[in-house]
Amino acid sequence: MYMKIIKLLQDRKILIDSELEKVLPKGNIEPKKLHRAMRYSVFSGGKRIRPILAIESCLCCGGAAGDAINAACALELAHSFSLVHDDLPSMDNDAYRRGKPACHKKYGEADAILAGDALIVLAFEALVNGAKPPVAVKMLREFSAALGSLGMAGGQSVDIEYEGRKKGARILNYINSHKTGALIKAAVKIGALASGARPHKIKKMEEFGAAVGEAFQIVDDIIDNGDSVAVFGRAASIDKARMLTRKANKSLAGFGSASRVLSEIADYLIERKI
Ligand code: IPE
Ligand code: IPE
Ligand code: MG
Ligand code: MG
Ligand code: MG
Repeated sequence: MYMKIIKLLQDRKILIDSELEKVLPKGNIEPKKLHRAMRYSVFSGGKRIRPILAIESCLCCGGAAGDAINAACALELAHSFSLVHDDLPSMDNDAYRRGKPACHKKYGEADAILAGDALIVLAFEALVNGAKPPVAVKMLREFSAALGSLGMAGGQSVDIEYEGRKKGARILNYINSHKTGALIKAAVKIGALASGARPHKIKKMEEFGAAVGEAFQIVDDIIDNGDSVAVFGRAASIDKARMLTRKANKSLAGFGSASRVLSEIADYLIERKI
C-alpha cells in the first residue's frame, strides 16, 4: 500500500545523502577522529524524515526541492547531534544506535560530545548557506527556537528529570511535543519558508508539522516500548497517533493535490516499524 511513498522516501534519501556528503568534512581531514565520529553518526542508516518533510513542504508550497536542500541538510545534522547526545551515559545511556555501537562507544565520550557540538554548529552554517537574508533570518529563528530550552533541549531535560518517575498525560505530551515534535514542526515550517510561501500557508504547514511531530514520538515509543505506551497504553497510543495524523491532514485541506505526498508521508509515519 505504501510502495510509492517508500520509493519516494528512498529517492529523497539519496539526494539528501549526496548533499550531506558535501557538507561534512571528510574523515581524512584533521582532526580525523572528530570528523570520523561526525560522519559515523550521520551516515549510519537514518531515515532522513526531517529533511524529507522540509523538501516536501517546500514543494507543497510551490517551491523547488533545491530551495530547501541546505535547510534539509541542517535539519538532519541537528537531528544527528541530538541522537549522539541522547545516547550518552548521562542521558539515555544507550550502547547501540540503529543496530551499531553508539558514537560514544566507538569514539569515546569526549569525542561524542564534541561530534555533537560540531554537528549542531555545522547545522547552523548549512541552514543559512545560500539563503537570502530575509528568509535566512526567519529560518534561523525557527531553527533556534526548535532546538533550544523552549524546544528540544527543554523536552530532553524534562524527559531526563522524569526518568523512572510516574508521569501523567500533561508531562508526557510536553516531552513528546518538545524533545521530538519541535524539530519536526520546524522542519515543515522551514521548508515552507524556503519556498517563499505567504504567511497563511506557512501557518497551515506549522499546524501540520506540530501534529505529525507529536505523533512521531508516540510511534517511536510504540516501536521501542517507550513512555507513551507506559502512560497511555499501547492501544490508546495508536489511537492518539492516528488522531494526530487526521488532525495533521486536515491542516492540508487548502493545498489541494499539492499536499498529497505530505499527507501520504504522515499516514506512512504512523504505520512504520522502524
Ligand atoms: C529517532 O528519530 C529519535 C526521535 C527523535 C524519535 P528517527 O526515527 O527519525 O531516527 P532515524 O534518524 O531515522 O534513525
Ligand atoms: C529522542 O527520544 C529525542 C531526541 C533525541 C531529541 P528517544 O530517546 O526516545 O529516542 P531513541 O528511542 O533513543 O531514538
Ligand atoms: Mg531520550
Ligand atoms: Mg534515546
Ligand atoms: Mg525512543
